[in-house]
Amino acid sequence: MNCKLLLIVVVGITTIATAKAANPENGKMLFQGRCASCHNVTKKLTGPALAGVEDRHPEAWIISFVKGSQAMVKSGDAAALEVFNKNNQVIMPDHPDLSDDQIRDILAYIKETAANAPKEDDAPFSRPGQKEPNLMPLSIYNFPFMIAYLVLIVVMVILLVFLVNIKSYEHHIHKDD
Ligand code: HEC
Repeated sequence: MNCKLLLIVVVGITTIATAKAANPENGKMLFQGRCASCHNVTKKLTGPALAGVEDRHPEAWIISFVKGSQAMVKSGDAAALEVFNKNNQVIMPDHPDLSDDQIRDILAYIKETAANAPKEDDAPFSRPGQKEPNLMPLSIYNFPFMIAYLVLIVVMVILLVFLVNIKSYEHHIHKDD
């Protein structure tokens, strides 16, 4: 009896949660149909690359910008003005017919695509200089390394001389026998 109740609660919560969650699949369709002519997730086209847009602006700001960016620019919204000026004052058309949830779907698609996009470092070969910018390759210009190297050689030579001396000393003793 209790088990059934629990099941109903769990199924209910899951249904509500999935219904509420943004749908990146739907977002992809909307994006390709209405944004892709000017926007790419990772590359700048007419409009800026949209990867990380949710870190640059609050969600409510983005929703209102997509619905009517020029209204925001004209009302003096500082962030909208900055984006507008940064992009050579090219006007982004309004999308007043998109619902908040549809814009959230688009944002979910952007987030998913940005997360799966190859990083700049995913080259077919590695770029050590980029991965380890402070890496000092071995060269005679690497002074601390050169000093350590010379000290090591000197120590090895001394050790060798020392060992040879011991050998000849032993030789000496045995000859005396
Ligand atoms: C006709 C070209 C065009 C289309 C279509 C377009 N945009 Fe834009 N978008 C721009 C331009 C240009 C900007 C730069 C801001 C400005 O000029 O007002 C921009 C800016 C933005 C920004 C702010 C980005 C940032 O980095 O601050 C968001 C978010 C955005 N667009 C979302 C969308 C979405 C979502 C769609 C599809 C529903 C869309 N845009 C369709 C041209 C376009």
